[in-house]
Amino acid sequence: MIADQLIALLEAAGQSAYFGERVTQLEHALQCAQLATDSDADEEMIIAALLHDIGHLLEDEGLHHPEVGVIDHDAAGARYLRERGFSARVAALVGGHVEAKRYLTRTNPAYFAKLSPASVTTLQLQGGPMTEEQAAAFESDPFKEQKLRLRSWDETGKRPGWMVAPLSSYRPILLGHLNRAEN
Ligand SMILES: [Fe+2]
Repeated sequence: MIADQLIALLEAAGQSAYFGERVTQLEHALQCAQLATDSDADEEMIIAALLHDIGHLLEDEGLHHPEVGVIDHDAAGARYLRERGFSARVAALVGGHVEAKRYLTRTNPAYFAKLSPASVTTLQLQGGPMTEEQAAAFESDPFKEQKLRLRSWDETGKRPGWMVAPLSSYRPILLGHLNRAEN
């Protein structure tokens, strides 16, 4: 049920542009999941990559902004997934993908220079680069490296016309994850 609801949400997003980028929300999600698969990431990371922006597609959650979508889409998505049976790790990764961007813009000037114009705009609404204290706290986050990996796929998964595995191929992974009791 939940897996099919999420697939329907993503399918519906096949037409909606991914804020300021040249791919749709669905293309972006599929490209991020493909990048995760191609880097031999485990299933939870692939799921997090596929669903990291789901907060943008939830009409009743988060703080909406006309140009950049749901401002706190990271937290909204994490909350939504956790409430529906996704593991704490998947929720943490989804909830941390903006945090990772705020960390990298604080610590890595080369990363900042490569951000797309739309991503620079949203960064300001997301709180801008981390403060020194926030960056120090992020350093000790047990999911730090994984959040940074997810972030790198997020930046890369914006290639117009890139053919990747279809949405239906992720259904078994989602079902398997949700059916596992230890979540
Ligand atoms: Fe994204």
